[in-house]
Amino acid sequence: MRFIEAVDYEDMSQKAARILAAQIIMEPDCVFGLATGDSPLGAYRLLAEWRAAGVLDFSRASAFNLDEYRGLGPDSPQSYRFFMEENLFSKINMLEANRFIPDGLAGDPDAECARYEAAIDGRGGIDIQLLGIGNNGHIGFNEPSDEFKTDTHLTDLTKSTIDANSRFFEQRADVPVQAYTMGIRTIMRARKVLLIVSGERKAEIAERAFFGAVTPQVPASILQLHGDATVVGDAGAFSLIRRHIGRTGN
Ligand code: GLP
Repeated sequence: MRFIEAVDYEDMSQKAARILAAQIIMEPDCVFGLATGDSPLGAYRLLAEWRAAGVLDFSRASAFNLDEYRGLGPDSPQSYRFFMEENLFSKINMLEANRFIPDGLAGDPDAECARYEAAIDGRGGIDIQLLGIGNNGHIGFNEPSDEFKTDTHLTDLTKSTIDANSRFFEQRADVPVQAYTMGIRTIMRARKVLLIVSGERKAEIAERAFFGAVTPQVPASILQLHGDATVVGDAGAFSLIRRHIGRTGN
């Protein structure tokens, strides 16, 4: 894994956005894997600014989001579809037909998961997958478990995740208890992975995930086995892992 320490959230967002920008400059028809949460927001703001300035062209690119709450549709402000429209898609020129997110209102979950996997394959797979990390080490909504779940699937959310995500809802009881998520194999098949981690409160899980045992109890730990994974984090998030990292960042 490659580790890039940034000074603060803004610097982290700049570095992550530049890596994503490089991808689209090098390969205008690339396929992004995208994430929600606070971590990527700054990077999305920068991509939108660079698009507005005419620096980036997304017209040939596609994007697959990691996950979506079951039961929430595009009109629900807490849905990940809504988040992506609001924070990125409405501000860049990526075609609507090229923007994919699992359908939270799908009637047949198994069919929806199979459709999503087939859509990713149909675009030739993901070139660069952007990730955040949950407090319990989840990536997407791959929650701690006894096994790595492989493909896109419907999952029960853990108490820790429901608690963490309740900040976006009026009351805790409104947080959906299930979600669609790409599986670990879906994520690991991405040609590159870029994980963004911010804040002291993520320092401990970052150390367990990237320097602890590879285990489905800490789903992000699987990224240690990815051939091209980069972690960009701010000083708070890197406070415990800094001592493990050599001068080359590896
Ligand atoms: C949610 C998302 C994850 C995200 C995580 C961390 O649970 N499903 O994809 O990485 O939250 O979010 P944040 O970046 O806000 O800490």
